[in-house]
Amino acid sequence: MDLAIRNARVATSAGVFSGDIGVQGGRIVQLGRVDPAVAEVDAKGLIVTPGGVDTHCHLDEVMPGMGHEAENFGTGGRSALAGGTTSAVSFVRQIPGHGLAAVVEESFRRAARSRIDYSFHTTITDPTPEILAEIPSVLAKGIRSLKVFLTYDTSRLDDGAFLRVLAEARKGGAMTAVHCENYHAIGWLTEKLLAAGLTAPKYHAWSRPKVVEREATYRAICLAELVDAPIQIFHVSCAEVAEEIARAQARGLKVWGETCPQYLVLAEDHMDRPDGAGFMCSPSPRTVADQEGMWDMIRRGVIDVISSDHSASNLTGEHGKDIAGPGASFRDIPNGVPGVGARMPLVFSEGVGKGRITLPHFVQVTATNPARIYGLDTKGDIAIGKDADLVLWDPAREVVLDNAMMQHAVDYTPYAGMKVKGWPVATWLRGTLAMKEGEVLAPEGIGRFLPRDRYALAEPRVKVPNGFVAADIA
Ligand code: URP
Ligand code: ZN
Ligand code: ZN
Repeated sequence: MDLAIRNARVATSAGVFSGDIGVQGGRIVQLGRVDPAVAEVDAKGLIVTPGGVDTHCHLDEVMPGMGHEAENFGTGGRSALAGGTTSAVSFVRQIPGHGLAAVVEESFRRAARSRIDYSFHTTITDPTPEILAEIPSVLAKGIRSLKVFLTYDTSRLDDGAFLRVLAEARKGGAMTAVHCENYHAIGWLTEKLLAAGLTAPKYHAWSRPKVVEREATYRAICLAELVDAPIQIFHVSCAEVAEEIARAQARGLKVWGETCPQYLVLAEDHMDRPDGAGFMCSPSPRTVADQEGMWDMIRRGVIDVISSDHSASNLTGEHGKDIAGPGASFRDIPNGVPGVGARMPLVFSEGVGKGRITLPHFVQVTATNPARIYGLDTKGDIAIGKDADLVLWDPAREVVLDNAMMQHAVDYTPYAGMKVKGWPVATWLRGTLAMKEGEVLAPEGIGRFLPRDRYALAEPRVKVPNGFVAADIA
């Protein structure tokens, strides 16, 4: 045995047991009682969970002239490991007017320095016939998920374009992730707010109230039902939106919902602070009552994934939220918050520590479900044959979060000052010690691409109106 972690409380998606984990060749090979190993770790009093799987993580995306570039795969991976995450799915973003092949190649080039295992979603921003024709070859590379935005000037798809992408996803057996907000409603409200002189960051929330997200979520679900294509709704902010997903699930549709820590611990009031721009993301954080509503939806299983939506804009300077100058209106401040390092400790502390979810449920929402929904077969649980991506937690350790602990390249964390109980003290990636007591040991380049084949969960239900499979008609 290469590694034995002994006497731990081992948390899997199915339950918790006391015992040992045995690792050989980067995989979990024994559980319970384990043979002697080259590296022996006594984990008495500690908890072991699978490494976090963050399936919504913007890392060094190729997006000329836009935000997010403060992070690269080396720094983002460092932050991930420090916070107990061992795999992430970032994005290959189609640049309008350009084909996919070059940006896929450039994305792989950037990811070559990753310290964690990774995959991509391909964001389709302009589904011309040429781009649609390229999608099968991208899926064949193992990048088996697409992403679409229903808002943002530079990336939004109208309903027709969205239908065409869904049809292509259905044919290729790919999952489609959807950013759901109504573009025209946000544009109309934004104009009115700016005309009324309401320009501060807190009005970002006013420009995109819940109904804007709820309408787009319902529409996305209906269009996915029409095409018969599985979808995941990204970053659900409140229970009213999650109710649309619950209704779809009750009808048997293949619709899943993701939320993020920013909707569980941040609120729109944060944007009223002098550093309010640092809390701006879309959808907007809501209220403390909405946070509790989201925990209910997690407990019900309607929302079954908590990702970070890590977005690496600095507060100030290069790649800063202040790119349009100090005092710029909310319309001109880049969206998104960094969180790949904070996600696991926040969910552990707010979820397990405060009795909102059990340890196995923590494992499910942070690792098992994201891996299952995106076809990352070797990841997401502690079981014989899985990759030995493991996190050792000290459940008693109390920590006040600050930016240095995040170990990312961003100049702030929106979670600074928050107290968490329970802290990752060691992380293994495929059986190799990658972080110990905050020191990241994994070198750049150790991370591997995770190719994804066709998988059952992303296949259509084969239930279409009138039995007419429109997606199959050329
Ligand atoms: O505000 C956000 N969420 N920014 C990141 C990009 C996205 O919408 O997912
Ligand atoms: Zn989004
Ligand atoms: Zn995102």
